[in-house]
Formats: sequence, structure tokens, C-alpha cells
Amino acid sequence: MSRLRVAVVGLGVGAAHVHAYTTLPEQFELVAVCDLDTRRAGKVCERLSLDTTGGSSGANRAGAVDIHSDYARLLAEADLDVVDICTPPHLHFSQSRAALESGRHVICEKPLVPSLAQVDALAAIEQQSGRRLMPIFQYRFGAGVLKLRHLIESGIAGRAYLTTVETSWLRGDDYYAVDWRGRFDTELGGVLLTHAIHAHDMVTWLLGPVRSVFARTTTRVNPIETEDCAAISLELHDGSLASFSATLGSQTEISRLRFCFENLTAESSLAPYTPCFDPWTFVAASPEIDAEIENALRDFDPGQQLYAGQFARFAAALDSGDALPVEISDARAALELATAMYHSNATGQAIELPIGPDHAGYTQLHPAAGGPS
Ligand SMILES: NC(=O)c1ccc[n+]([C@@H]2O[C@H](COP(=O)([O-])OP(=O)(O)OC[C@H]3O[C@@H](n4cnc5c(N)ncnc54)[C@H](O)[C@@H]3O)[C@@H](O)[C@H]2O)c1
Repeated sequence: MSRLRVAVVGLGVGAAHVHAYTTLPEQFELVAVCDLDTRRAGKVCERLSLDTTGGSSGANRAGAVDIHSDYARLLAEADLDVVDICTPPHLHFSQSRAALESGRHVICEKPLVPSLAQVDALAAIEQQSGRRLMPIFQYRFGAGVLKLRHLIESGIAGRAYLTTVETSWLRGDDYYAVDWRGRFDTELGGVLLTHAIHAHDMVTWLLGPVRSVFARTTTRVNPIETEDCAAISLELHDGSLASFSATLGSQTEISRLRFCFENLTAESSLAPYTPCFDPWTFVAASPEIDAEIENALRDFDPGQQLYAGQFARFAAALDSGDALPVEISDARAALELATAMYHSNATGQAIELPIGPDHAGYTQLHPAAGGPS
């Protein structure tokens, strides 16, 4: 496998991406970072002890990381295989399209784009480009959630009954001081699209698609446009039910996922930002099932976790030609679920999925005027 030459664009959470690449030196070579704020980019590189050069000088040294401020110049000048986009959400579509059309693979942070119509357009651009695009859902790659997936796939868990998900985080003035946050035209959505999207993705990744959604959302914690509290009731295609709650006003921050199956009850830790990690508890319905669980998990190897876990699997999939660990269709499913939630809240009705091109939600994530189209 040859190393993939990667650039990270946007050095907020992008700093965690940069760090993850440095832990995967056999699969990735970080050749550039790009941020409008080159001081911020420089500080990230300094903190991670990376050797750097100024990108616009063109004086790149072998092994050094080039610092760019201009995305178009990065695409034009840098020798890259992969562009990893960690900029604010309203930029994801145009920056992903530009990178694909320049012949690079793309990794892009959540939420991928503002509408189902744009997800489908991006999937078509990806196909025409012959390159691949992987949306970020790094919470899938944690030992606890991977164990549950293994127990489901091996048939031990049995039928799903009921799932509960709590995303109870805290965000205040300092968080919303960043100008793109809290606005429909730039953040695209609030707690459902920006924060709880990870936990909700884990549920559909484990249990399959959603059939019907009833949602109530409100904005009570911060003086922002986007929602910061939500209560959701769902029916999944397998007939099981789920209940999601999400707030940005919880003084104790927790995430909790709890799955009641026929043969076991699985529960995550309360770690707000790593609920996918160990320890999870698996309580069996009988001593025999307990022995099956122990047997199934005895030699379980989760591999790399979080961002490094997703990136390592991405490089392996490009090499083998297998499906990516997260595909555009996964980002589409997450966006479809969020669209249904927003439309349910606006209409006071349950929304049935799938949402096709003839549904108002296909082009309009938020039915209210002022939402992104
Ligand atoms: N997966 C996760 O767990 C996770 C966590 C946090 C944020 N995110 C997502 O990552 C994205 C960025 O969020 P953040 O919190 O890092 O935001 P941020 O505002 O802290 O950082 C974004 C950076 O992008 C830079 N930028 C903006 N426009 C640019 C452009 N045209 N070219 C180059 N750089 C540009 C800004 O200067 C800024 O430094 C969002 O989509 C957010 O939802 C994901």
C-alpha cells in the first residue's frame, strides 16, 4: 500500500484529524494544512511538533508540512491524494466538489451538506470524478459500539425492542461567539444536526433505517436561531421503537445509548464525547447467552478507534476496493433523519421515510423561511 498524501483544511477540529494522521505513518503522509487563519494552523503544527514550511513560498522541504491559507491555491499547487475538509458546514459542498473535480479523494466533516438534493448531487459528482468521498462519523469506531455491532451481526443480540439515546451537552456564549455557529445559513442545524448526529448515526448503523419520526424541538438555552433542545420518537423498519433526547443545557454532560434486545441489554458509558469507547455493559437474558457473549467477545479486536480508526479503514478500503467505512449514503441517511425531524416539528405530524425528490424536505432541510435550501 502506498502512502496517501493528505491535506487538512480548517484547523479547529481539524487539529484532531492532523493528530490522527500522525499516528498512521504507514498509511498517510500529512503534506499540508490550510486555514484562513495561518496563525491557528501554525500553532496546531507547533503543538504537534510538525516541521512546517510556508505553502505560498513554494519552498516545501521533503517531509515538512506546508501551511496554506488559500484553498484554491492548495488544490492547484499541492501534490495530494486526499483533501480532508474540516471547515464550517456551509462550505462543505463547494469545497468537496472542487477537490473531487481536481482528482482528489475527499474526507469531509459532518454535517456533510444542507439538503438531500445536495447529497445526491455530490454523490453524482463523486461518481463522475472516479474518486471517493468519505463523510466523517468517527464515533462508530470505538470498542464498545463495535462489540455491540459484532453481537448483533453474529445473531446473539436477537430482535431489537427499544432504544434510548441521550445527548446532554452544555454550550454557552463562548461556543456561539464563533460567527458561523447558531445560524441556519452556516451551521445548517442545531443540536440535532451538529451534536446528536453522531449518536443518532450509531443507532441507524446498528439497527437499520427509520420508518417514522415524530419530533419536538425548541431553542431555550442560548439566544441562537438553531434548536438546542429536542425530544424525538421513532419507529424503525425492524418494528422496534426508539426515543432520542438532546440538549445543550445539561450542567453534567453525558451521552448514553441503551439498547434493549431480545437476548441482551446493552448500555454505553456516560462519557459525553466518547460513548463509543469501552466500557459498555452487556446484560444477558440467561446464563447460556452470557456464555455466548463472553465467547464472542473474548478475542475481539476493535482495531484503531475514533478518527484514526476511520482513517485507517478508509486507506485500507481504497487499497482493497471495498466499501468505505462511511459512505455518502450514510451521510444521506443522517440528513434524511434530521430533515424528517425538522419537518415533523414544523408540521406537528409524524413524517414517514424515505423522503424522495417530491417531498418538500428534499430541497429544504428546514421548512421555515430562513432555513438553508
Ligand atoms: N466529528 C466531530 O466530532 C466534530 C467535532 C467538532 C466539529 N465538527 C465539525 O467540523 C466542522 C468545523 O467545526 P470546528 O468546530 O472545527 O469550527 P472552527 O470554527 O473552530 O474551525 C473552522 C476553521 O475553518 C477555517 N476556515 C473557514 N473557512 C475556510 C476556508 N475557506 N478555507 C480554509 N479554512 C477555512 C476557519 O478559519 C477555522 O479555523 C463543522 O462542520 C463541525 O460540525 C465535527
